[in-house]
Amino acid sequence: KNIAIIMGGFSSEYEISLKSGQVVYDTLDTSKYNTYRIHIFKNKWVFVNDLNEEFPIDKNDFSVLVNETKITFDCVFNAIHGSPGEDGFMQGYFELLNIPHTSCGMYQAALTFNKRDCLSALKPYGIKTAESYFVNLGDSIDEDAIIDKVGLPCFVKANKAGSSFGISKVYHKEELQNALDVAFKEDDEVIIEAFLDGTEVSVGVINYKGEVLVLPITEIVSNNDFFDYKAKYLGESQEITPARISDEQAEKVRRVAKTVYEVLRLQGFSRSEYIFKNGEPHLLEVNTVPGLTAASILPQQAVEAGISMPDLFENAIESCLK
Ligand code: DAL
Ligand code: MG
Repeated sequence: KNIAIIMGGFSSEYEISLKSGQVVYDTLDTSKYNTYRIHIFKNKWVFVNDLNEEFPIDKNDFSVLVNETKITFDCVFNAIHGSPGEDGFMQGYFELLNIPHTSCGMYQAALTFNKRDCLSALKPYGIKTAESYFVNLGDSIDEDAIIDKVGLPCFVKANKAGSSFGISKVYHKEELQNALDVAFKEDDEVIIEAFLDGTEVSVGVINYKGEVLVLPITEIVSNNDFFDYKAKYLGESQEITPARISDEQAEKVRRVAKTVYEVLRLQGFSRSEYIFKNGEPHLLEVNTVPGLTAASILPQQAVEAGISMPDLFENAIESCLK
């Protein structure tokens, strides 16, 4: 089978995606699959071979011509974090072309990538979230109304972004405008959320051999003020699996994470984050193309559950080929 591993993308997360994609490429068993690295950028979609030569993708059918041979793909392994890999665009494109892909569907991706809409879609199922306030680019900003609603400190976040790009923690009203400017650099929508003071955990849920499987829970302890970009990628945090929470709390958050996966009808990988407040997990967001390097949270959780990285990636391919 020919497997296209797509990586890169249009957002600030492209470097992380290139790392995730390369790990998938290096990990998949080449005696089972013919694997191809496909870089997707705004200005070029190319197959990159081991000599780093580039061959343009024909967007009409997602094929590539290599030495006069046309290569088509049986499956796409999606390693693009952020747009257009995590927000539904690539999903819609592959769904139109009838090419199976390892992520969730187009609608699910678009919904989960939009923090506000995802959290409000889950509210009727009893899933708790932080108090929040939403602003569009160009809206007049009523700082007092924001602070009245969410309190201080609060988090200002780009509504559609990942890897903590565009996120600030705001302690004083005077910092709010600057935080909004930072967030609006990533997205034209911003969500401002109340700060939840409690243990933060990350829960991976995957479809493993036909079953919805909740992976061991990871506790996130940031050395920084919050789990920001540096904490995530420059080692300025500790990720402790299994999390040091009570059995009761673990059971609660496992149940919520499974509900999220099932209610939203996700497929493939997912990883959702929660903060415990008054003993209850409050959902921050759902990632459907989580980081896939050996140091990333979901692969570590899988290994803890006895699922090796080759097995994890092979399962993703075999599940979507069914
Ligand atoms: N957005 C990053 C890649 C993650 O969720 O792991
Ligand atoms: Mg995220």
